[in-house]
Amino acid sequence: MRGESVVVVGAGQAGCQVAVSLREQGHRGPITIVGDERAAPYQRPPLTKAYLAGETDLAGLVLRQDSYYDDHGIKLVRDERVIGVDRQARVAVLGCARTVSYDHLVFATGARPRPLPVPGAEHVLNLRTIADADAIKQKLDGQVGLDVVVIGGGFIGLEFAAVVRKLRHEVTVVETQPQVMQRALSAETAKHLAARHRSEGVEILAGKSIAAVKEGFVELTDGTVLVADLVVAGIGVIPNSEVAQRAGLAVDNGIIVDAHLRTVDPRIHAVGDCARFASPLTGGLTRLESVQNATDQGTTVASAILGSAEPYTALPWFWSDQYDVKLQIAGLTDGHDRTVTVGDPAEGRFSVFCFRGDRLIGIEAYNRPIDFLMGRRILEAGSSLTPEIVARPGFDLRTSQQQAA
Ligand code: APR
Repeated sequence: MRGESVVVVGAGQAGCQVAVSLREQGHRGPITIVGDERAAPYQRPPLTKAYLAGETDLAGLVLRQDSYYDDHGIKLVRDERVIGVDRQARVAVLGCARTVSYDHLVFATGARPRPLPVPGAEHVLNLRTIADADAIKQKLDGQVGLDVVVIGGGFIGLEFAAVVRKLRHEVTVVETQPQVMQRALSAETAKHLAARHRSEGVEILAGKSIAAVKEGFVELTDGTVLVADLVVAGIGVIPNSEVAQRAGLAVDNGIIVDAHLRTVDPRIHAVGDCARFASPLTGGLTRLESVQNATDQGTTVASAILGSAEPYTALPWFWSDQYDVKLQIAGLTDGHDRTVTVGDPAEGRFSVFCFRGDRLIGIEAYNRPIDFLMGRRILEAGSSLTPEIVARPGFDLRTSQQQAA
């Protein structure tokens, strides 16, 4: 088992973690990571935050120093793509036509920004890679008071809006849904976040759609025209699953894998944003986009390659930083039908407990990190908190287990 070769397709957080965990767990065989970016694997979350604000550079984002890969016998092939996988021959085919043979292959191909489906989309920038962030920085550099239109009020759009506002530009966010971050947040938390953006001077146009983008302005379907020196879209992502599909693997909004993150081919796994896995938590196929999911799945697959039979069961969590708001989400709040708010929204410190029926499924902590930390533990252990218990005056998560008993 120890001398087997592993090829990791994709050099993001998940792909890097597979290689790191393999070495940490004692794997001695050859490891090759193939990634299509020029930079060594780096953290993406700071791109919309500290990197854009000029508070850190690429050196501050890389997951491992360059020397790490050499020192650990990990071959990092940069600026190169895997364009095919021959499962019979067990080789990955690179763009340069070279092949790399494998005993195990891991798809960690991530996701790409969903293109804006309107005329003039070529005038729109995305924010996913360091190259994207550099292109945006170049447009903003040394200037103030530019008119910036942000399309999409999700994680990327709102984090970007907060930083660009701090850099003293005029910001308008256009969101098709009636509220921001509808995919990820309860209405209660989303409302406060939107209010915070507005108090900072960001204009949020919710329930509006883009008709077209032209050089210098954006047209909405209701006829509104927004002047725009810069247009950035964050309207969700599409998993990169084409190579897996061509290799004959099942693909449907991601590469389909079982609870062990394995495809139907026992030598091929998928991890991170590109993987749609059988989740014991949701009872169905789930695809998650987060650093936690990327790293935990990377570790799980490294163990699986080394013979572990443990399924992937980690509790999902997410975070977002906007202005001084630290938003942390424990669990999956999708499909909640009841919420209870604890703390003081007016003071900008509260947590929203999300229930499906009587079952606590997630907690959104808005500047209440202790609720997030405790909440993760409680959700991991299986919570017995009901809406009635959480709604009691003086409820405190730190002593909640006694209250639930
Ligand atoms: N016009 C305006 N808004 C749109 C449009 C459109 N044509 N299409 C979608 N939207 C909105 C969605 O309603 C949603 O609020 O764009 C937002 C996209 O938000 P997310 O789904 O959070 O996606 P995004 O912000 O692009 O982030 C992509 O990157 O950092 C990671 O984890 C993060 O999963 C996230 C991913």
